Amino acid sequence: MSKLLIEGNRKLNGIVSIQGSKNSVLPILAASVLCSGKCILHNCPNLLDVDFSIKILEYLGAIVIKDGNDLLIDTSTIEKYDIPDYLMKEMRSSIIFLGAILSRLKRAKLFFPGGCELGPRPIDFHLNAFRQMGAIINEEGCALNCYANKRLNGTQIDLPLPSVGATENIMIVATLANGITIINNAAREPEICDLARFLNACGAKIFGAGESLLAIEGVKKLYGTEHSIIPDRIVASTFMSSAAITGGEILLKNVVPEHLHSVISVFEEMGCEIDSLGKEMNFKSPKRLKSIKKVVTKPYPGFPTDTQAILLAVSSIAQGESTFIESIFKNRFGYTNELLKFGANIDLIGKSAVVNGTPKLFGANVKAFDLRGAASLIIAALGAFGNSEIQGLKHLDRGYENIEEKLSNLGAIIKRV
Ligand code: EPZ
Repeated sequence: MSKLLIEGNRKLNGIVSIQGSKNSVLPILAASVLCSGKCILHNCPNLLDVDFSIKILEYLGAIVIKDGNDLLIDTSTIEKYDIPDYLMKEMRSSIIFLGAILSRLKRAKLFFPGGCELGPRPIDFHLNAFRQMGAIINEEGCALNCYANKRLNGTQIDLPLPSVGATENIMIVATLANGITIINNAAREPEICDLARFLNACGAKIFGAGESLLAIEGVKKLYGTEHSIIPDRIVASTFMSSAAITGGEILLKNVVPEHLHSVISVFEEMGCEIDSLGKEMNFKSPKRLKSIKKVVTKPYPGFPTDTQAILLAVSSIAQGESTFIESIFKNRFGYTNELLKFGANIDLIGKSAVVNGTPKLFGANVKAFDLRGAASLIIAALGAFGNSEIQGLKHLDRGYENIEEKLSNLGAIIKRV
């Protein structure tokens, strides 16, 4: 089992280029199942979750050629409609393939994605929407047997919550459905817009991506296209946090500042100076960070739940008390037990975490249990006095491409053993 060794308390300075977005490339890989032509993706990050998605595509019969951060996908030879349990277990977000497989093969057999460290991960919004469009979905134990004997029909879908995955799955199915599909209370994340841009370039007719009301007019066929994945706003937030906690100054390249508004305003409240120009952002940390009065995680454009763990680690050395309220997932403070080992002062009260900033953190040996929790522990270790060891890197590698190399280039003493 590999682990990261970090010698903390070193100011980070320099330039870092941000990888393509994991949460954009995953639904786009699923959507490629519907394309009758070849697709070429650029700025595709090298991640475990991308590798798992490629394994699923190849299992279904597609041909995928990876060259660095470029991917060529030919799905013309797809003939299978099931995703075996061992592949579903690798990546819970593989439910995003359901709509594409069902729409293309008229059948789909998947397994319920297991719950994960963030709590139960229900898919009722996805299944209810497909049933409304005419699909037959039989839940047999933990298997999902789905049928679309004829072309699915467009309809109005009212989402109880602006679910990212459900919005994506419905959007994908609706592109080839009969008639118009309306999604009310759709998720507005930048990754939804990137998926819509990809699908429209393939010949789909999607209107309103990024708004709460989406309209998709079904077409007969989707073609291939060439597409560049947007930068990963959560990874950008992670590198901003690495500079903030070490009192450093870094230049981020290949970022989209408007995707980071809610995160930027929190860092500015802490006293950080952020200047953006085009796809570059200069980030300067103050001598001592100020606390964050209150942060509530919300659907986009609110403060993203995926940056909650990362910013909470930064707040652990800020001056004063910071409060974080997690409103998206039921159990997304699990990582704080490990943060306490660095000397952080955190009280969990229901959906809130109250952090009393301490002047110093001290190196610790910790273990990650989820992706963004892993990033949070790295941030704490970078700011801590002394040496730290971090285990559980398989979670980290799902979402971060070569993070230790990029942090080393910024002056961190970090290595994987
Ligand atoms: C996506 O997960 C992201 N994953 C998550 O990022 C992110 O945290 C989440 O959106 C929220 O922004 C990918 O894009 C691959 P949801 P998703 O459906 O789609 C409830 C990371 O760290 N819900 O928006 O699974 C659900 O329980 C990952 O990169 C239902 O009740 O999230 C949750 O409380 C972690 N029924 C809320 O909605 C459903 O059918 C939001 O979930 C679906 C969701």
